[in-house]
Amino acid sequence: MKIRKPTPDDYTKVFALLRQAFPRSTYEVQLIEKLHNNGKIVHEWVCIHQNTVIAFIAFSHAFDGAKVCGLHLAPLAVKPQVQNQGIGSELLRFALRQEVIKENTIFVLGNPKFYRKFGFEPCALPLCPFDKNNAHFLSIRNTTSRQYTVGYEREFKIGG
Ligand SMILES: CC(C)(COP(=O)(O)OP(=O)(O)OC[C@H]1O[C@@H](n2cnc3c(N)ncnc32)[C@H](O)[C@@H]1OP(=O)(O)O)[C@@H](O)C(=O)NCCC(=O)NCCS
Repeated sequence: MKIRKPTPDDYTKVFALLRQAFPRSTYEVQLIEKLHNNGKIVHEWVCIHQNTVIAFIAFSHAFDGAKVCGLHLAPLAVKPQVQNQGIGSELLRFALRQEVIKENTIFVLGNPKFYRKFGFEPCALPLCPFDKNNAHFLSIRNTTSRQYTVGYEREFKIGG
C-alpha cells in the first residue's frame, strides 16, 4: 500500500470510492468536485493498493471571518471492502505528519471516539455551523477563546 498525493488520473477512482463509502449521499463527491472546479486549495492524499484508490483524505480552509484560521478535515473515506483494517488510521496519521497539516489548527466534524485516538480534542469554540452544541466537533492546536462560528468554503453548503 502506498500513500501519495492524487494525480489527475486518480479522481475517477476517488469519486467512485466516495460514492461507495457514503452510499446514501452524493454530498462528498459533489463537495470535492466543486472545490476543484472552483480552484479552492485542498490538501489531499490517497492510499493506493493494486492500482486502486482504497482511501482518501482531504483538508480545506477554515475561516474566522475572511481570515484563514486553520483547516477542516473532510472527508476521510476508506473503501467498504477494506474498512476496519487500520487503513483509515494509517492515512490519517500520515496526513497529520505532513508539513502543511502539522503546523495548522485542524478541525473535524466526526465521531469523537474515532478521532480522539489521533490527538483531536472536543472543542467548545469556535462554534461549528453544522453541529448542534459542537457535540461532534473536535480540533488539534486550537487556541480559540473568542466566540465565533467557524467558516467553511462555500462549497460545503448544500447547493453552494
Ligand atoms: C470511518 C473510516 C474512515 C475509518 O477508517 P477504517 O480504515 O475503516 O478504520 P480503522 O480500521 O483505521 O479504525 C477502526 C476504528 O474505526 C471505527 N470506525 C469504523 N467505521 C466508523 C464510522 N463510520 N464512524 C466512526 N468510527 C468508525 C471502528 O469502530 C474502529 O474503532 P476501534 O479501533 O475503537 O475498534 C471508514 O470506516 C469509512 O470510510 N467509513 C465510511 C465513511 C465515513 O463514515 N467517514 C467518516 C469520516 S468523515
